[in-house]
Amino acid sequence: MKIEKITVLGSGTMGHGIAQISAMVGYKVALRDIDQSFLDKAMEKIRWSINKLVEKNKLSREEADATLARITTHVDLKEALRDSDLVIEAVPEDLNLKKKVYSEVDRYAEEKTIYASNTSTLPITELASLTSRPNRFIGIHFFNPPQLMKLVEVIPSSSTEQEIIDTAIGYVRKVEKEPVLCKKDVAGFIVNRIFIPLVHEAAWILEEEKVEMRSIDASVKYKLGFPMGIFELADYTGIDVVHKATVEMHARDKKVINPSPLIEKLYKENRLGQKNGKGFYDYQQGSYTRIDLKEDEATYDPIRLLAVAINNASWLITNDVSSKEDVEKALRLGMGLRYSVFELAKNYGYDRIVNTLNKLSIRTEFYKPDPLLIKLK
Ligand code: 3HC
Repeated sequence: MKIEKITVLGSGTMGHGIAQISAMVGYKVALRDIDQSFLDKAMEKIRWSINKLVEKNKLSREEADATLARITTHVDLKEALRDSDLVIEAVPEDLNLKKKVYSEVDRYAEEKTIYASNTSTLPITELASLTSRPNRFIGIHFFNPPQLMKLVEVIPSSSTEQEIIDTAIGYVRKVEKEPVLCKKDVAGFIVNRIFIPLVHEAAWILEEEKVEMRSIDASVKYKLGFPMGIFELADYTGIDVVHKATVEMHARDKKVINPSPLIEKLYKENRLGQKNGKGFYDYQQGSYTRIDLKEDEATYDPIRLLAVAINNASWLITNDVSSKEDVEKALRLGMGLRYSVFELAKNYGYDRIVNTLNKLSIRTEFYKPDPLLIKLK
């Protein structure tokens, strides 16, 4: 199936990035949001990102201008969907909102249009069932920032046609990303199944072990090889995004996460992270800022974090959601991890990891060591 025009619904963090990378490789892109001011802000971010890529010689000035010329912005949904081959929905993670959006999309979309959702946690099969074309519906899940992260998870629903899966994978390759097929429509898919519980674990450690936030973050960065600290990453992703993902994942499967009340507290206090200037850390509002973590601050032993990460990675393999190779690839390309979690676990010792989990599993089943870890021990 030939894709020429793409409609991106929602111009937030993910939507504007998806629109940009699609236009960069030659697709015509209609970016749609409910208010022109959101679209103006999104175009400002796209221009910032494109200028960065030009500065670094990853894009020529001509390519940059051509990219911008391929993007149109729309408040009118009917106009945005005209002649569209692929719709990628990237509106906030709220099932009722998505229901409303899909019922409107169904009113105007042409017969040929394929539906995709960039949802990070909502069940693809359930979303597909809200539409007129469940067999032409698929999850295409990008990572923040889509301009730099190489991974895209492709999640078919129980009824997605093979031709649609192939077209989605073709699109992902065309935008120069690496697809990883998520074989089962499980809560959190692959990366979020590991990332979201990790944020909560770090929050528990902060409260229970009274370790400095910067020390946890520096240890995650320098000992576990993450590009950012875990609190820094939560702020960068958005506390609202982390909170909504938590609620959805936990609603689907109680064993997938041990939610720390701190995330909900930050969310309720409107500490949303980098986007509004305050989250775990304080920021200059709206701009891309990094926390300057120093190696000598990495004094915390991150065994508990590693144990939770490797346990969830093992669950994905044991339950045939993904292969070990794809889990490793997803973490490397979706979260920028420098080391293999399985190599790290071997170095820290599977024995220690299983002991750590066993001690924690008195509290909740979430920590129960996966059979794969027991085998590796
Ligand atoms: N477009 C273009 N350039 C960008 C950019 C963007 N959107 N964002 C940042 N940059 C630029 C920076 O400005 C910087 O430029 P400079 O050298 O001129 O200052 C350059 O990229 C490199 O940035 P950093 O100096 O901050 O260096 P890093 O090497 O750490 O790279 C990063 C930045 C790629 C964001 C890296 O820190 C990273 O991989 N972080 C982890 C991100 C992650 O885990 N994402 C997934 C979150 S989970 C998710 O998205 C799923 C969802 O469903 C919740």
